[in-house]
Amino acid sequence: MEKKLINIKNTALPMILDAQTIEELEELRIQFLGKSGSLSNVMKEIKTVPTDEKPLMGLLLNEVKEILETALKNKQHELTQKNGREKHYKIDITEPGIKPLLGHLNLMTEAISEITHIFEKIGFNRVRYPEVEWDWYAFESLNFPENHPARDDWETFFINADPDKKMGAMLLTPHTSSGQVREMQKHIKKNKDEIDIKMLNIAKCYRRQSDVSHTPMFHQFEGLVVGKNIAITHLKGTLDYFVKSYFGENRLARIRPYHFQFTEPSFEVDVSCGICDAKGCRLCKAGWLEMGGAGMVHPNVLKAGGIDPRIYTGLAFGWGVERVLMMKEGIEIDDLRLLYSNKLEFLEQF
Ligand code: PHE
Repeated sequence: MEKKLINIKNTALPMILDAQTIEELEELRIQFLGKSGSLSNVMKEIKTVPTDEKPLMGLLLNEVKEILETALKNKQHELTQKNGREKHYKIDITEPGIKPLLGHLNLMTEAISEITHIFEKIGFNRVRYPEVEWDWYAFESLNFPENHPARDDWETFFINADPDKKMGAMLLTPHTSSGQVREMQKHIKKNKDEIDIKMLNIAKCYRRQSDVSHTPMFHQFEGLVVGKNIAITHLKGTLDYFVKSYFGENRLARIRPYHFQFTEPSFEVDVSCGICDAKGCRLCKAGWLEMGGAGMVHPNVLKAGGIDPRIYTGLAFGWGVERVLMMKEGIEIDDLRLLYSNKLEFLEQF
């Protein structure tokens, strides 16, 4: 029996020390210390041992049992620690990393900065004027007689405040044209003998409208050039330049007669369709897409700004940022209101 016990100890110990996994260790525990394991089997033989040797055998048996148990416990501790460490440090440095999610600027912000760069290249200065404006700047100074029905076209929001004697009612500016006379006044103050205006006014505008192609708040960009001998050719050249820079080299601008109170002559500006090259297709129907208004500054507007229309002439144009953005090739927005909806599914597409 003594030999058998020593044998068990000598076989079990190296096996326990060599174990690689917790599962393997458990198998060894069952094999040597389990209910019907090697040690239990030897224990049964104690009956056959002479009585005077029994205490010694008992001691030896316990000793072997203890040695194996301690070895198992130590190994188990070692293996669990190693496992944990491996899980933690198992890094394949050649694996591609997980890109952190990055946001991007809203489509409108991108369009505004693109438009600004295009006009800055040919010398326009970006300016800003009040969104809460006086009737005088939005209408009166722009040659709209009081109560003129044309004012209805602008579907204006009025501010609930007392009107000013000279400036009239307070309102949310319905177009960026309200910056025209403000800009003229600024230049007159600076140097009334040398007027040289190249204004780009990009701003939020407000009108009482809300459907798939209109939001109550929208953006316009307005160009105003005032100087000596400014002619329609300058206007047409500026439009062509913008259309090619923003929409693409092969696109053309076209002007059609129209009416605005503050320009004479007035035009509506069209851009050739990028799909069919102005031949006419399902998207554009007639080959051209309507972009917005333009014209030569009306003498009465120059006068309102303090500029002598006999010496100076000017050109102006004003278009919707949302509109040109939608018309840009490749971008189709079914419902304009989505631009301001905070819907990530929509915004993340661009
Ligand atoms: N302000 C006009 C509008 O809102 C556009 C325009 C601007 C027309 C400048 C002519 C000149 O529709």
